[in-house]
Amino acid sequence: MPAITVEATTFALFGALGDLALRKLFPALYRLDQAGLLHSDTRILALSRDEGEPSARLEQIAQALRRRIPAADLDEQVLERFLVRLEYLAMDFRNAQDYLALAERVSSSLPLIAYFATPAAVYGPICEHLAAAGLAEQARVVLEKPIGHDLESSRVINEAVARYFPETRIYRIDHYLGKETVQNLIALRFANSLFETQWNQHHISHVEITVAETVGIEGRWGYFDQAGQLRDMIQNHLLQLLCLIAMDPPSNLTADSIRDEKVKVLKALAPITPEKLGNSVVRGQYVAGSVAGKTVPGYLDEENSNAESCTETFVALRAEICNWRWSGVPFYLRTGKRMAEKLSQIVIHFKEPPFYIFAPEQRSLISNRLIIRLQPDEGISLQVMTKEQGLDKGMHLRSGPLQLNFSETYKSSRIPDAYERLLLEVMQGNQNLFVRKDEVEYAWKWCDQLIEGWSRIGDAPKAYPAGSWGPVASIALITRDGRSWYGDL
Ligand code: BG6
Repeated sequence: MPAITVEATTFALFGALGDLALRKLFPALYRLDQAGLLHSDTRILALSRDEGEPSARLEQIAQALRRRIPAADLDEQVLERFLVRLEYLAMDFRNAQDYLALAERVSSSLPLIAYFATPAAVYGPICEHLAAAGLAEQARVVLEKPIGHDLESSRVINEAVARYFPETRIYRIDHYLGKETVQNLIALRFANSLFETQWNQHHISHVEITVAETVGIEGRWGYFDQAGQLRDMIQNHLLQLLCLIAMDPPSNLTADSIRDEKVKVLKALAPITPEKLGNSVVRGQYVAGSVAGKTVPGYLDEENSNAESCTETFVALRAEICNWRWSGVPFYLRTGKRMAEKLSQIVIHFKEPPFYIFAPEQRSLISNRLIIRLQPDEGISLQVMTKEQGLDKGMHLRSGPLQLNFSETYKSSRIPDAYERLLLEVMQGNQNLFVRKDEVEYAWKWCDQLIEGWSRIGDAPKAYPAGSWGPVASIALITRDGRSWYGDL
């Protein structure tokens, strides 16, 4: 049995037949059950507006599980046990009457977790009806991103939820925070004095954060075209990574101590004003190309597309944090769809030694780098300089890695999906890995001024071929500072 004890809950999943639920949430719940981390009394209510036969809807969920969980990990006994926990209920989330049927199914003796895998516009009505049906007391609510479209709309949503739920029972998901390697950033930084003493503008020259995907829009044109890569990825995932890298040490690991430090970073981000846009941000949009040897269409030729769209599928930018620790250290952020490789990676570039005693022609080699690979092939590598071996080599230097590959080193343990971790944390009532209201709002504030600048100067996205590392201008963004993106071919 696992060392963790998890209390029994009623888990009400709004949007149970949606893409997120079928692709991520049910498989994560199944995995928790398999690991013995779902209490035997925990019940799952699958809620959706689809009025089909409940048994057919449950079968749809079972089929999704069979598709998503690799055959070797699918245990028929566990699946059977898991399906027994499930009940399907068709309801219109905006109709108060439908919550009476829900209330009948929610156990009064168990805490309720209400997970909103729905568009954010429905969060307010769901909260209101949960409260009217007497289901809000003690319930925890889990909100998926995106929370709004800008600062204004996120405030409206946050306020609608706050009318019925205190912040201590609101869990805002940014699934990057549930990734094991992202949590490892806290361990790496604050359990190793080796790094923390170097973690500032005296020793670090610049930081790169890359989140590259090979997938395109995957049938989500309607959502994505309204959002674009800045709102979809930078406002949340990349800014959260930036915060974890840049924040000061929290005084403990409580949710608020960590969030307080993250908020300080967001507040210290220098606005990218319209005057700075040209040299600090590059927007891109993919055109037809080839990914992993397969020809793929351009963004404007995707299913249901609008051939006039100016939405960006790629963003590279140069951010600055105005505080003592980071003054003068650029943070280069880059994220895109249909890129050459699926890769999420943070590279910390350390400064050169203060005085150089080796042959001048080797000077370009000198730079320690800490590479934190979030996915795939999760691991950490520290590039260090050593002398080349051999009598004929003199003091010829080379750069080599001190490497820790998680799956190779810790062979026995599967790296859990982010949602498994996050669902477990909600069930345990831990908010550490969730985003507080002010974090969402400061992140929007920073992104809003950037988006406003784009529309003011009419910045059209630059084309890049699918399967590449983005528009040429994104290379110029960093080479202008005499640097290059780490590892680009
Ligand atoms: C989601 C975005 O939040 O993150 C998607 O909406 C993106 O567009 C996804 O594809 C990336 O997540 P991951 O875990 O595959 O890196």
